[in-house]
Amino acid sequence: MVEQACRELARLHVDRRETLVAIGGGALTDAAGFIAASYLRGVPIVQVPTTLVGQIDAALGGKTAVDLPEGKNLVGAFHQPVAFVADVSLLATLPPRQLRAALGEAVKMGVLGDERLLELIEEDGEAMARGDRQTFESGSLAEVVERCAWAKVEVVSADERESGPRMTLNLGHTIGHGIEAAAGYSKILHGEAVAYGLRGAFAIARALDITTPERAARVNALLDRLGLGIAPPAVSMESVAEHMATDKKHALGRLSWVLPTATGVIVRADVPADAVAAGIAAALRLAPVTTTAEVPVRP
Ligand SMILES: NC(=O)c1ccc[n+]([C@@H]2O[C@H](COP(=O)([O-])OP(=O)(O)OC[C@H]3O[C@@H](n4cnc5c(N)ncnc54)[C@H](O)[C@@H]3O)[C@@H](O)[C@H]2O)c1
Ligand SMILES: [Zn+2]
Repeated sequence: MVEQACRELARLHVDRRETLVAIGGGALTDAAGFIAASYLRGVPIVQVPTTLVGQIDAALGGKTAVDLPEGKNLVGAFHQPVAFVADVSLLATLPPRQLRAALGEAVKMGVLGDERLLELIEEDGEAMARGDRQTFESGSLAEVVERCAWAKVEVVSADERESGPRMTLNLGHTIGHGIEAAAGYSKILHGEAVAYGLRGAFAIARALDITTPERAARVNALLDRLGLGIAPPAVSMESVAEHMATDKKHALGRLSWVLPTATGVIVRADVPADAVAAGIAAALRLAPVTTTAEVPVRP
């Protein structure tokens, strides 16, 4: 598709001053962004995401990429859009599963430190997940989109290339990516995997006493109500751990973990293997989600 689209641009004699407009979900805006980064070594692009994932995450931040049979996002570039337009009314036709899954990513943005965002999702998240009209009319869905989008813009503006603060956006993604990869990227949507990963990150943070039992209970209860990360996914602990070990975000062979505190997150590179195992077990719902007692440690 990328080759075909680039050839079409060439056929139309599109020159470097002309702006591309990408209208679609994250798969499309990622590919269009890559085309914009590459065609004539870079043309401007306006991103118009039409999915909740696109509006709160994928179309923002300038990471563009396409997948190869060998792996996800292996060919890409950093290319910031000249403008970003999120029209929440477009989300009215999204399948409810897509809406629900994207809320996993919205919960993550709240856990990074936006109290109001967490409250909004606590109040209205179940209705948003159902695609309830009232969440469009009241403006609560729009506020979720706006808060998530601005939070991402702020983090990315401070650290475009992910040398520091941008890494915090990976909260829930270390185990989440492991689950997605272990499931072959087919049965589990990204936001659903992130929800499992969030539960795992909270279990690790509890095991290391980084977060409070109240914070962990609150976020796990919110995910319960949203219907996210509930049933144990059909993947083994071993295969999740294996796929985590090949994750491209390894810093010097050692996994850096973004872990929740009582109000935000910290990055730790010294998480012991037993805590990681407890985290994966909790993410896969093999161990009870521990709220007040310590997380059981599995070898
Ligand atoms: N670049 C980044 O920083 C970043 C961040 C997160 C995700 N992503 C990427 O985004 C992709 C996932 O994006 P997504 O969740 O938007 O999925 P998607 O692009 O696959 O879209 C999901 C489905 O919804 C359909 N659709 C799109 N808009 C619609 C609408 N308004 N009404 C009805 N149907 C609609 C699409 O045709 C598709 O079938 C993944 O490839 C992921 O890697 C990128
Ligand atoms: Zn994500």
